[in-house]
Amino acid sequence: MTSEREHLRHRELVEEIRRHEHAYYILHRPVISDSEFDRLERELRDLESRHPEWITPDSPSQRVGGSVSEGFQTVRHAVPLMSLDNTYSDEEVAAFIARAEKQLPGETLEWTVEPKIDGLSISLRFEHGVFVQGATRGDGTTGDDVTANLRTIRSLPLKLKESPPLLELRGEIYLPLAGFRRINSERESAGEEPFSNPRNAAAGSLKQLDPRITAKRPLALVAYGLGAVEGVEVPSEQSALLQWLVELGLPVPEPVTVARNTEEVLRAITELDRIRRDFGYETDGAVVKLNRLPLRERLGSTAKAPRWAMAYKYAAEQAQTQLKGITVQVGRTGKLTPVAELEPVFLAGSTVARATLHNEEEIRRKDIRIGDRVVIEKAGEVIPAVVRSVPECRTGSELEFSLPRSCPECGTPVTRETTSEGEGIDWRCPNLDCPAQIRGRIGHWCSRGAMDIDGAGDVLVNQIVQKGLVRDVADLYRLQVPEVQNLERMGEKSARNLIEAIEGSKSRDLWRLVFGLGILHVGAGAAKALARAFPDLDSM
Ligand code: IVH
Repeated sequence: MTSEREHLRHRELVEEIRRHEHAYYILHRPVISDSEFDRLERELRDLESRHPEWITPDSPSQRVGGSVSEGFQTVRHAVPLMSLDNTYSDEEVAAFIARAEKQLPGETLEWTVEPKIDGLSISLRFEHGVFVQGATRGDGTTGDDVTANLRTIRSLPLKLKESPPLLELRGEIYLPLAGFRRINSERESAGEEPFSNPRNAAAGSLKQLDPRITAKRPLALVAYGLGAVEGVEVPSEQSALLQWLVELGLPVPEPVTVARNTEEVLRAITELDRIRRDFGYETDGAVVKLNRLPLRERLGSTAKAPRWAMAYKYAAEQAQTQLKGITVQVGRTGKLTPVAELEPVFLAGSTVARATLHNEEEIRRKDIRIGDRVVIEKAGEVIPAVVRSVPECRTGSELEFSLPRSCPECGTPVTRETTSEGEGIDWRCPNLDCPAQIRGRIGHWCSRGAMDIDGAGDVLVNQIVQKGLVRDVADLYRLQVPEVQNLERMGEKSARNLIEAIEGSKSRDLWRLVFGLGILHVGAGAAKALARAFPDLDSM
């Protein structure tokens, strides 16, 4: 190709990739397959490696990459980021609306009701339509410059469909539930502490000093407001503003209801609560805003929050039950985790009989005792957690709990260490021959995400370890049909199938093997990176 045609192709690719990003990450209606999309990205990177002079900051290739920084620069917000007054009560919503009506006599007021997305506030600066800077809320006046991390977020367009001289947007960065679950299962496989909820996971991901880590976290954006604006006429209503943001190529909160009085506002809040569980991301309330933007100025704000908007928070779904006991699980890395054994109780769509208590410190901090009546909550609407005890219900027979100082599986004295995130203490069984660790290691090796050995589920793994047939993963490859077929729920045919499946695992990709070894902090992502960087196991 001539350089001129290549340059043309480069511009075409930029446009095409941008279109597909929009279709996939914002409209959720992809038009091409993932592999076709990868091919386009590869072609773009290839062209740009030969012609670095063509790279512009808004090229889709500029999302990933960047280098590790020592700390974030501080950004002064041109218009401060305020927060919102919160309420849990219908009466306070009514009073808020009545106050606004009183301050704006003669005006017919309309209100928008939007989902309140549970993430982190962000300010995004676009100059002539190009994303140039993004900052966290910080103290409202100054925040951290997280531009490099924000660039990795695919639903954040690096170039808008219009090019106003200056457009500062306000929005929320969040982690969809599917991504939250994926990250946590990867962290658990790597022997790391899982995030307690999607919001913490989003915060941890956005505040990474290495944007390559952020790039692996599937963060998303919604935009819902404006900061500083120059050289463009903006819509005069919130509902029209959101529509305009959509036309610029941005994701916005959905659904938005326009309501004309208290009754309609409250109805919209209730309706949102009914449907929000199906959203695929966490919402913790509804935001009620005065629709007409020019009227907002007349209402003004207090030092902290505007008088034209309010957040209605939904109470997290909680239930009370009896803490029957605390058991201790030993993971494959030897980590001891206390688990609450509960009187089964129905909570937010399912029956909960066990909940994590995280670690010993947490139990002490919350003063949770065996026999207590406890409040449980679905934190992040996924993992049930014990929130607190109800000391008023105590009879005096409750027992304080401490983790055993020796491993409940093998009796070896346990050792203390600071958690990987440095915010607590973990107790570990140091005995690599501990049956629980052996079971955990073999189970992890055989799991779907690692060597994917069909038929080697928990029940089988427990038996082969207990019978002493397998002590490490190498032993799996020495198993014979006769010794397997006598195990419970086995026969000759299933034994043969298992041995075949084990044989079949010998041709798995290198990264699966590396991940399967279960090295501390080497999750699936790190294993893939290692396998890309080294041709084989010996050179690693
Ligand atoms: S409007 C002047 N709209 O909730 C403040 N905020 O508790 C304008 N949030 O700091 C904020 N979804 O981070 C607004 N649809 C939404 C929102 C939303 C989530 C967050 C935002 C804000 C916090 C206040």
